[in-house]
Amino acid sequence: MKMLMAANWKMFKTREEAADCARGIENRLAGLPADREAVLFAPFTALAACAGALGPGARLRLGGQNCYPAAEGAFTGEISPGMLLDCACSHVLVGHSERRALLGESDAFVGKKCAFALNAGLNATLCIGETLKERDGGMLRPVLERQLAEGLSEVPDDVTSERLCIAYEPVWAIGTGRVAGTAEILEAHALVRAFLRKRFTARGNAMRILYGGSVKPDNAEQIINLDNVDGVLVGGASLQAETFARIALAGVSD
Ligand code: 13P
Repeated sequence: MKMLMAANWKMFKTREEAADCARGIENRLAGLPADREAVLFAPFTALAACAGALGPGARLRLGGQNCYPAAEGAFTGEISPGMLLDCACSHVLVGHSERRALLGESDAFVGKKCAFALNAGLNATLCIGETLKERDGGMLRPVLERQLAEGLSEVPDDVTSERLCIAYEPVWAIGTGRVAGTAEILEAHALVRAFLRKRFTARGNAMRILYGGSVKPDNAEQIINLDNVDGVLVGGASLQAETFARIALAGVSD
């Protein structure tokens, strides 16, 4: 299983800034080991510029931060998986907690996107995570299991393990500088792994589970060395090429 080191730029960067930063990351990824992949989830408006800056053989792959579960149609403001493929994307995020909280995306809707994106040919990363209130209320397990069950409900049983990732991002750790503790990460990731095994049998063992939430160059190596952590999804610290590249190369000696 290759580790997946992913950048989520959220709603940041003009086309020019994005092209510069994507190029800057790519230039620093020459030493990325063969057992790691790097993906950049850029804003829709910057995808074509990033694709142009990176060129065809780049190490850094591209992804959209969201998609709509239809091929085309009267869905004002939305973007289809086919449009992402057309912008050289191979990946897409679904169910980010910011979209769940700010835009009211339901588990069921996220599940439709996940299955539709996979069927359209994109690799999907399903984001899940509990709020602090849910965690403090002892709801970690039921919340994660509900998000997984509904988020994966329409995904074909025989999906290949490389094409589906889960990103565990505790909402209270996103953009707060408060990274989840080792025990908290281990507990949540073990729970996700058990769910994936049950849902996809042996293939569930090989699906990647990413951690996201205040990942920085100085904590990345420790996080990716934890059991059942198969990569990271980085927000704020991915906005500078040098910082993200240090995370992507965490623990790689030069
Ligand atoms: P931060 O790394 O800024 O905490 O964001 C995490 C995140 O939401 C990635 O999707």
